[in-house]
Amino acid sequence: MSMKEKRTLMLPGPTPIPERARQAGAEKIIGHRELECEELVEEVVEGLKYVFQTEEDVLILTCSGTGGLEASIANTLSAGDKVLALCTGAFGERYATIAERYGVDVERMNFTWGEAVDVDRVKKRLEEDEAGEIKAILMTHNETSTGVVNNPEPIGELAEEHDVLLLVDAVSSLGGVELKVDEWGVDVAVTSSQKALMTPPGLCLVSVSKKALEAGKEADSPKFYWSFKRAKDRYDRDTQTPSTPAISTLYVLRKVLREIKDEGLKNVFRRHEIVTKAIRKSMRALGLGLLVDDEIASTTVTAVRVPEGIEFNTLCQKLKEKYNVYITGSKGELKGKVFRIGHLGNVSRVDILSTISALEMVLKEEGFDLELGTGLRAAQQVFYEEESR
Ligand SMILES: Cc1ncc(COP(=O)(O)O)c(C=O)c1O
Repeated sequence: MSMKEKRTLMLPGPTPIPERARQAGAEKIIGHRELECEELVEEVVEGLKYVFQTEEDVLILTCSGTGGLEASIANTLSAGDKVLALCTGAFGERYATIAERYGVDVERMNFTWGEAVDVDRVKKRLEEDEAGEIKAILMTHNETSTGVVNNPEPIGELAEEHDVLLLVDAVSSLGGVELKVDEWGVDVAVTSSQKALMTPPGLCLVSVSKKALEAGKEADSPKFYWSFKRAKDRYDRDTQTPSTPAISTLYVLRKVLREIKDEGLKNVFRRHEIVTKAIRKSMRALGLGLLVDDEIASTTVTAVRVPEGIEFNTLCQKLKEKYNVYITGSKGELKGKVFRIGHLGNVSRVDILSTISALEMVLKEEGFDLELGTGLRAAQQVFYEEESR
């Protein structure tokens, strides 16, 4: 092929931006103390409250998701505080490490990669903590490195019962997987613009409960740029951000949030579920192994075992070079062993079909025994049945 084919970005972030929203990013730059910017920020915050399903504060930080995770620690904890970090993969591990850098006394509860948090273990550990030493639980909602969804709801119940804070990394879930922040008792939920929110990188969005703000009064970890109080006070005063926000990214996010509202959250989640079903069925039809069981499978990213005799790097490289399809691998103990397909945000059914089709061709070329169209047909069947319901 001489002409470069259309890029099919199937990463678990950054994700493709809907065309109309992408154009909104080219709007003129305005001063961040202007009324027009106040209105922009306010509309974005209101739109975010809908997606976070919260009535509490949602703060806008100018950074990627990691900045928000760091802020969630700096604003609720002090050095020496004890936290329980639920680690189901690379991002759970990352969250624990961030807390450690702040001098927090982190107790990791490790789970096998590819499995979800075992709520009973968490329950038992909290019951053992008779002195009430544990101040917070850190958890990853959607563990992107493995493609597992952890359910915050029962953990939220336990957190309430034992009066501990629940801090949730929702970077690769919010807007793609249901997260009922208020109803489930999530004290801080952190997400970023470049995942299911279909916006360029640059913004981090954080919901903060009253309990978290209260804890923040005692937390003496150093912070200035990351201060929730500074962000909240400024927003409460004039719906501004304390420092210059990523204005162009806000324009895009505003447009995306309008579209999410129009589509309706339920429909957004349903769309992600159908796409996930199609991918999983097609991988199985091809005889490929899925890392994660159906019940805990993420609806934003799927990890597939690299079959025997196939080299991960070659697979990834050929998909990119021959078909302009971008997928990725994993980290740590899964490095080279799985490939991951991101299917969150602005990913269409046809993107999924293209990806499966390209994957089949590359796998076949690399010597994997398959009949072209096998996986494709399985995915088509899912979409077809859904359409003709
Ligand atoms: C679950 C999770 N947490 C944190 C991050 C880090 O986010 P960022 O790259 O926006 O800092 C990612 C990015 O993939 C993620 O998937």
